[in-house]
Amino acid sequence: MIIAIDGPAASGKGTLARKLAARFGLPHLDTGLLYRATARALLDADQPLDNAAAAVAAARGLALTEFEEQRLRGREMGEAASVVAAIPAVRETLVEAQRRFARRIGGAVLDGRDIGTVICPEADAKIFVTASPQMRAQRRALELARSGEDVSFNEVLADILRRDERDSSRAVAPLRAAPDAALLDTTALDIAGAFTAALALVEAAR
Ligand code: C5P
Repeated sequence: MIIAIDGPAASGKGTLARKLAARFGLPHLDTGLLYRATARALLDADQPLDNAAAAVAAARGLALTEFEEQRLRGREMGEAASVVAAIPAVRETLVEAQRRFARRIGGAVLDGRDIGTVICPEADAKIFVTASPQMRAQRRALELARSGEDVSFNEVLADILRRDERDSSRAVAPLRAAPDAALLDTTALDIAGAFTAALALVEAAR
């Protein structure tokens, strides 16, 4: 069973993907980490984020890069990731590894922006997770505060809106719900409520 979870920044898709993976005993790939790691490698090498050749080389080298998740999670890296994610050759470089992960025996859960549309159009269950920008900013600000990044609500909201706009308007694999995806709005739901709803959608799609 392949479960595809897409949605904008801080919609709750990562949490839901993790919990679904645990529930069904499936491996989980947070595909945003691939773009974040690519951006990190470029910044570490003092390369501009829009250098397509260097970005492709960084994406190809990911398997060799040490994956230090805490260096990828911060606010800046989300923004940098969305810049490199708009480079078509970078996306092309990362497609195959994501598809290989999805095709593991028994299935997998992948979350990102283009899983249901581009990476796994054949997924058994597709959920597009949304929430109001205000609620997403509130959640993200809390998360950042917990990890020691003190950012105001307004700054986080501006980040989120800018990232949504860049991710939705790029030419290749823009942020978009697949026509056959179920929509899940988590604005008024807590984690338990969102998980119950997501589980019901997956069960219905199996
Ligand atoms: O999900 P996360 O916030 O970690 O993603 C960081 C950025 O990576 C996104 O804003 C988006 O530009 C890019 N991304 C993407 N396609 C995916 C996953 C992430 O373009 N499947």
